[in-house]
Amino acid sequence: MTLLSPTGPLSPTGSLSPTGSLIPADAPFSAEQEAWLAGFIAGISAAGRRDAAAPGGAPAATVDILFGTQTGTAELLAGEAVAGARARGLGATATPLDDITPERLAASSLLLIVVSTYGEGEMPDNAGLFWEALAADGAPRLEGLRYAVLGLGDRGYDDFCGAAKLIDTRLAGLGAVRLHDRVDCDVDYEEPAAAWTATVLDRLAAETGATVGATAGASANGAAAPETPATRSPWNKRNPYRSRLLVNRLLSSPQSAKEIRHYEFDLGDSGITYQAGDALAVVPVNDDALVGALLDHLGAHGDEDAG
Ligand SMILES: Cc1cc2nc3c(=O)[nH]c(=O)nc-3n(C[C@H](O)[C@H](O)[C@H](O)COP(=O)(O)O)c2cc1C
Repeated sequence: MTLLSPTGPLSPTGSLSPTGSLIPADAPFSAEQEAWLAGFIAGISAAGRRDAAAPGGAPAATVDILFGTQTGTAELLAGEAVAGARARGLGATATPLDDITPERLAASSLLLIVVSTYGEGEMPDNAGLFWEALAADGAPRLEGLRYAVLGLGDRGYDDFCGAAKLIDTRLAGLGAVRLHDRVDCDVDYEEPAAAWTATVLDRLAAETGATVGATAGASANGAAAPETPATRSPWNKRNPYRSRLLVNRLLSSPQSAKEIRHYEFDLGDSGITYQAGDALAVVPVNDDALVGALLDHLGAHGDEDAG
């Protein structure tokens, strides 16, 4: 007797059809009957997949969203892209670039990368190993991969968004196909980054027939789900936390050529935590009284064009 299994064709000997069809090779059908039956089975199978992607079910596709960052902006944007993907019924996770090998990329089909640039056109700290492996001669071909890159940078530097440009060019050189042109963001990154994310995700959702409400918490690499915007800290470059300086102690000796200080900041109920290696940005604010005194001294009003 021959059996049709929902997962694959089985015969008493367990042999597969040479065509890979669900219809066993030794089934007593003419070519015409077999073609009709194959179409019928494909139709049932497609309907089953559509049901599985219904709201609350499995996502239509999974997007790997990778980030390379030094001070957290790219990670923040990657987290927002994950939330946007899930809201559109796509599965998505955010992962640091250094946690991914080129071999792992070769097993992925949809990839978004958000990466900043440091040094003089170099990778940020958590993307150096990734870049080394991707740029190596032995890197695998990536023909099955479709991708888009978002660069973060500052036009004040010579090599604007250099890291994003390197990765984008190398992925294409390895055979991966762009699903959207790279966008390089300057210091006012919010709008272009949001537009890039929305355009790419809308396109993927339309292509894959993703259904709003279907989400997944893990990608093919099994990485844990990242924080969602609801649980992420509200403090960032655009919305800095105003902290009181509690301790400011000189550590270096008066004879030392360098001045080294110990600072302690009041984090109050901000929810901010600190780990060794975290960066602290100080946003200076001018003292109004000092500014006023300086303007008086110069005989100026303060609205003159300094240029
Ligand atoms: C020390 C330093 C070096 C930088 N070098 C570059 C550079 O070479 N090219 C560039 O486009 N941006 C450069 N930037 C700007 C950052 O890439 C930009 O601020 C980015 O938004 C930071 O993103 P992140 O928070 O994800 O690291 C540099 C910034 C700093 C602080």
